[in-house]
Amino acid sequence: MPAAILGGTGIYNLPGVEVEAKEISNEYGIAQIFVGKGEHDDVVFLTRHGKDHSTPPHKVNYRANIKAIKDLGVKRIMSTYAVGSITADYPVSELAILRDFLDFTSGRESTFFDQIERSVGHVEMSEPFCPVMSQQLVQLADQHQIKVHDGATYVATNGPRFESPAEIRMYQQLGGHVVGMTCCPEVYLAGELGMSFGAVALPINLAAGLEDKITLVAGDIDEVRIGMVNLMIDVLRHTTDEDCTPPLLL
Ligand code: HPA
Repeated sequence: MPAAILGGTGIYNLPGVEVEAKEISNEYGIAQIFVGKGEHDDVVFLTRHGKDHSTPPHKVNYRANIKAIKDLGVKRIMSTYAVGSITADYPVSELAILRDFLDFTSGRESTFFDQIERSVGHVEMSEPFCPVMSQQLVQLADQHQIKVHDGATYVATNGPRFESPAEIRMYQQLGGHVVGMTCCPEVYLAGELGMSFGAVALPINLAAGLEDKITLVAGDIDEVRIGMVNLMIDVLRHTTDEDCTPPLLL
């Protein structure tokens, strides 16, 4: 069965992986998916803002994307997020392994369980991010000579605006470590469809109020991005569908 890589800002292809573009329609809309060819036919790839970064975070069709991935037979997703760092424990340009989230998004289509004819379902979120894939990320990062910081809590905001300094102080007090605009509802939509979900965040700036003005790191993190994608592919290859247990539905 194929496994999926979900990419965000700065991740528009999988280096060294030849893919075929597919447009997949379902009841939620259209998803642009890239299916690996040849030795990479076990990987599918989706870049959530589109190849030309034209879809803002609040306009991404999360349900169409996640349903299309599910319909390709995928049971495991490794996802990546560009984020702002809100604590010194998660420095800019070094990878953060996500273990939990705080969801401040609103107004998004954020569940598959909203149709009367479908039975009620509540996805269990005690461990939102697959512990098996997260552990593999930690182990393999060493071999890839990549520095990772485990245990990050992701704060999901609606965007597209950045936060105010007071909001960032609030998120710090709530225990958030990194802030971004897209991990929710992706992580729990995948869980609703019975898929396991691991995630890595790449801080590309210090969040609002931590320096005079937000400055995004320049293009010189391409090497970090490539290393991160290779690490994620390796994690998918070192785990199986059977190793990972998706969240329960209650
Ligand atoms: N805030 C929210 N989303 C982000 C940021 C940020 O500082 N940086 C990258 N994505």
